[in-house]
Formats: sequence, C-alpha cells, structure tokens
Amino acid sequence: MEKYYHIVTYGCQMNVHESEKIAGILRAKGYVACDGAEEADIVVFNTCCIRENAENHAYGNIGALKKLKRSRPEMLIAVGGCMTQQEGAADRLRKKFPFVDIVFGTHNLTALGDLIDRKTAQKKAVVEIGREEPVSDEDEDISFRTSYPNAWVNIMYGCNNFCSYCIVPYVRGRERSRRPDNILSEVSALLDGGYKEITLLGQNVNSYGNDMGGAFSFPGLLDRICERKGKYRLRFMTSNPKDFGEPLIRSIEKNEQICHLVHLPVQAGSDRILKLMNRKYTASEYLKKVELLRKIVPDCQLTSDIMVGFPTETEEDFRATLDLVREADFSTAFTFVYSPRSGTKAAAMEGQIPEEVKKERIMRLVEAVNARTREKSSAYLGKTAEILCEDFDEKKSLYLGRDEYGRMGYFKSDADVRGRFVKLKINDASGVSLYGDLVEE
Ligand code: SAH
Ligand code: SF4
Ligand code: F3S
Repeated sequence: MEKYYHIVTYGCQMNVHESEKIAGILRAKGYVACDGAEEADIVVFNTCCIRENAENHAYGNIGALKKLKRSRPEMLIAVGGCMTQQEGAADRLRKKFPFVDIVFGTHNLTALGDLIDRKTAQKKAVVEIGREEPVSDEDEDISFRTSYPNAWVNIMYGCNNFCSYCIVPYVRGRERSRRPDNILSEVSALLDGGYKEITLLGQNVNSYGNDMGGAFSFPGLLDRICERKGKYRLRFMTSNPKDFGEPLIRSIEKNEQICHLVHLPVQAGSDRILKLMNRKYTASEYLKKVELLRKIVPDCQLTSDIMVGFPTETEEDFRATLDLVREADFSTAFTFVYSPRSGTKAAAMEGQIPEEVKKERIMRLVEAVNARTREKSSAYLGKTAEILCEDFDEKKSLYLGRDEYGRMGYFKSDADVRGRFVKLKINDASGVSLYGDLVEE
C-alpha cells in the first residue's frame, strides 16, 4: 500500500528548499506526495518564527489537525523548522499539541527518517532538537526538487550578525560555509539536468568563506561558477549591505549569467534606528553602495526589505525611511511591521511602538513602495522582455515566468514552453505583473 506525505512550509526560501530535502527523505522511505492532510500518512510542518504572525499561522494549522488525528491516530504529525529551535519551544509545542508525534530542529533535518522509525516503534513522541550545529554538509544529496527550471542551492547556513530584532542567529546557529567544490558540483549537475536558473542561498552571502579562514570569497565563488558557460541565470540572496562592495559589483558586471537584480535589505532610513538595529551601516553609506552599483552596472535593479515600528522609531525616523525608498529607487520591496522576538535585544528595549502607529506607518510605506513598483512596471509597456517560463497558471490559463529583474510576465502559448527562455512584447502591466504576447524568434 502506498503511503502519502504532505508538507506545509512557512518562511523564507531557505525553508522552501529545506522542504525539498524533507520531501527527498520521505520519498526515500517510500512515501509519495498528496494534496492535503486528509489523505496523508505523515504531515510535516516546516515552521518559521521570524515574526509573530508566522508562528501564529503554524500554530493555527497544527491545531486544526487535532480532529483528524483523533479519527486517524496512525497518521504521523511532525513539526520542524526554526520555531522548534527557540528556547523551550519543543516543550511548549508538546504541551499545546500533545498529539504531535515528532518535533525536530533545523539541525536535525537529516535525522527525520530515523525519527519516523523511532516513533513507529514507540508510543511516546520523539523530540530531537540539536544544540550542536552540524559542521557542514559535505555530501549533501538533494534527490528531489519542486521548482524546475529554478533550483536553490545552499552556500552557507546560519548567521553571525545578531541584528537586534532578529531571531535567525538563535535558531540557525553560527555561519557555516559549504566548500566551493561541493557547491560547484551541485550547480554543474543541475545545469546538466536542464535547470536554467540557480539561486544561491545564505542569510548573508557576502560573508561566504569567512569561517574558512577567508580562503574563499563570495565574488570568487561566483566567478568560479560562471566559468561554466551557457545560457542560464544565476541569482543570490541575501546580500547584507554592510559587506556589499566593489568586488561583488565587479563580479556582477563581468559575468553575464548573473542577473542584474540585487536584493539588498536596508531595513530603515534613520541612522539612529539602523544603529539600534545593529546593522553596521548608515543610510548614506547604503546609498553610496547603491550609487556605485548603478555606476558600474547601470541597468541593475534593486529590491529590499524594510521594517516599520522598531522600538523608539519616531515620525521623523520613519520619514527618513520614506526618503530612502525614494532615493534608492527600489523596483519593489518586502515591507514588515516590527515584531518583538523573545530573546532578542530589541524585544527588551524600551519604547515599543503602539500597534496603531505601526499600522499607519506600514500603510504609508506600502503605498510609497507600490508607487515605484507601478512606475517601473509601466516602463515595460511596449518593450520586449526575456522571460524564463516557469509554470502554467491554470486559473488564468496563461504561462508565466520572470525576467532577469525578477518581474513576473504572463502570456498565452500553444506550445508548452516551461523551462524555456521566451521573448514577450509587453502590452499590459499591473502592480508587479506584466502581460504580453510571445514574440516569434
Ligand atoms: N538575512 C537577511 C534577512 C532574513 S529575515 C538580511 O539580513 O537581509 C528577512 C526579513 O525579515 C529581514 O530583512 C527583516 O526585514 C525581516 N525581519 C526580521 N526580523 C524581524 C522582526 N522581528 N520583525 C519584523 N520583521 C523582521
Ligand atoms: Fe537576521 Fe541580521 Fe542575520 Fe539577516 S543578517 S538573518 S536580519 S541577524
Ligand atoms: Fe527563514 Fe523564518 Fe527561519 S525567515 S531562517 S524560516 S525564522
């Protein structure tokens, strides 16, 4: 009899990619994917705790399985991901949801297969939260991917930066870089397998190699990857502005495979707030780096992460953020309301901002960001964009894919062009989406 798995993923690309690894482990144990928890023999929640609402989503959805678990006690429920690595989180989870069978930490992902065996052999729940960080992942074998023609490749794990608002260093541990040879062979196998876009993942890719005595650098890694010629795209995230500089910009300039789109989270525009955030750059330093990037790579687009409502943020601080949004000319940005994370420095700061003030500021910020996005989208009208077709949208009956700058383009096609680069003449733009007609080559 076939056994079914269902994975629910929250959080960043890192988690999306780790869910692919989880799926690989489950498939190796004979499970096959199904559409929902109802039919599943195992449901895995891969959680995120970056903001309170991410946690609440997961809590809500785990809680919703209580009834199903009562009617089908043999169904396994496993909870993994960042939420479980927080201090005392495993106990809290077990108390809140006694019907959960397996709790596993981000450092214990590869043990999931064994944990399932252990759980099957015993009645008691299995909890495995590693405090020791795995050294590296020399022979990481990713047998299953869900994102053709795009692929994610981890280049490093963890974070050393301790931005004062952020939980990631606590739940992901210190920076560990993968060896360049392992990364190169993974990328090379992906390209051999027909993948057309590779996104390198790390919390701060600019510190790649620092933990290996500086023997390797991120721009050096990019240059080595790009020695492999051919038509494909290379992206990376996230680049921390504090160590973003000319060597990386030069690498973007000289390697045609690297997309002219940089995600460079600024967080805030007020120097006082940036200092309290422990970001280690000022607004003008940030803007100088952006200027250098645009000087050397003139068509380069920029996206960002921006936060409102950090403790003590005044109206004047917030206006500095709005000013920076204008000056940096982001093509789009992710905007967040600051959410206190227990155990972080900022959560203990005085001057937490009332909810209504945060709400009012986020609305103004979103409007400022969207206005630029719309402007950038209308600049596409009448022009031709090169799209890597990723998928078919059943509801819209249109194919879709992104251009080099990350814009999503939708179009009609008689042939299935998934996995191919196509050219679109853009005739409509709404928000971040473009609509166009295929141009015959
Ligand atoms: N390593 C990346 C960020 C990863 S988290 C970097 O440094 O750029 C993604 C985004 O979530 C952050 O850029 C930040 O804008 C937001 N974020 C992190 N902690 C947050 C918190 N406590 N409240 C609200 N937003 C937060
Ligand atoms: Fe969090 Fe800062 Fe590390 Fe990014 S660099 S993951 S925001 S601590
Ligand atoms: Fe990512 Fe959330 Fe963890 S943003 S690293 S999944 S806390």
